[in-house]
Amino acid sequence: MRLLACLAATALVALAVPAAAQEDYPDGPITLVVPFSAGGPTDTVTRLIAEPMSRELGEQIVVQNISGAGGTLAATQVANAAPDGYTILIHHIGMSTAPTLYRNLPYNPLEDFETIGLVTEVPMTIIARKDFEPETLQELIDYVKANQDTVTYANAGIGAASHLCGMLFMDAIDTQLTTVPYQGTGPALTDLLGGQVDFMCDQTTNTTGQIQAGEVKAYAVTTGERLESLPDLPTTAEAGLGEFQIGVWHGLYAPAGTPEPIIEKLTAALQTALKDENVVEQFAELGTTPVPQDQATPEGHTEKLASQIELWRPIIQEAGVYAD
Ligand code: MLT
Repeated sequence: MRLLACLAATALVALAVPAAAQEDYPDGPITLVVPFSAGGPTDTVTRLIAEPMSRELGEQIVVQNISGAGGTLAATQVANAAPDGYTILIHHIGMSTAPTLYRNLPYNPLEDFETIGLVTEVPMTIIARKDFEPETLQELIDYVKANQDTVTYANAGIGAASHLCGMLFMDAIDTQLTTVPYQGTGPALTDLLGGQVDFMCDQTTNTTGQIQAGEVKAYAVTTGERLESLPDLPTTAEAGLGEFQIGVWHGLYAPAGTPEPIIEKLTAALQTALKDENVVEQFAELGTTPVPQDQATPEGHTEKLASQIELWRPIIQEAGVYAD
């Protein structure tokens, strides 16, 4: 029965996107949905790759921000979009954590999407408003432990990378803090700069410039190695937080059933974008790196997604953090 259902679904998709349409693809603008608000790290990465991808595809890629519920709102919409290659999604590590974090997630990341390819790996940084008292990571830890009831931690919603980083941080120092959720890093960072929240952890794509300009206080980078773009910033291990590490990865998705020839064209455009001189240069300035070409593929992406779902499940279950 399952096989018959599967064959019927495949036939329906083939009918939905006729062969000629697959050959002519793309024949109009493509909407690339960003699951967080404009001005955040996911948005920054997207806008950088959208231009060379458009050039390669010969059609415009229109970036659309649909924020909310840690990126799950946008993912739900794209999972339900027509599988014709004209609506695609970029998402980050949150795609792999949502199945455990959300009790009623309306999609299955591995079944309801076709993977197009991984995009980039981004380190995170622990930062605070510039007049926040602690000067070092150890001082920050001591301070938040002593002021647990008043310190505020900003994040971009449950399942956002900033939420995961905060969750790991609180777990590592065994202290629960008040978290303030936003629709993305854009608005969270604005409030941090304005002094409305105390500290956060987010991707170098958006924090590098602020750290370099001295607009925020920076304590550590969450990867094993220091960054060329922020050489004075210690790693979390160097700054006294043991094995605490987190890096964010991004990938491109299409709704399940999008025909293979269309996915192939999108993958080829992604691979071209990741070799683009401007993209490589801008990524380096923002402390991030494009993935190797063999990872910018559906196979590399699916493997990463599946292994990350397994990696995060026990961590989230142990932390006991869930959303509806
Ligand atoms: C996150 O915390 O997941 C991201 O920074 C959200 C965003 O891209 O705005």
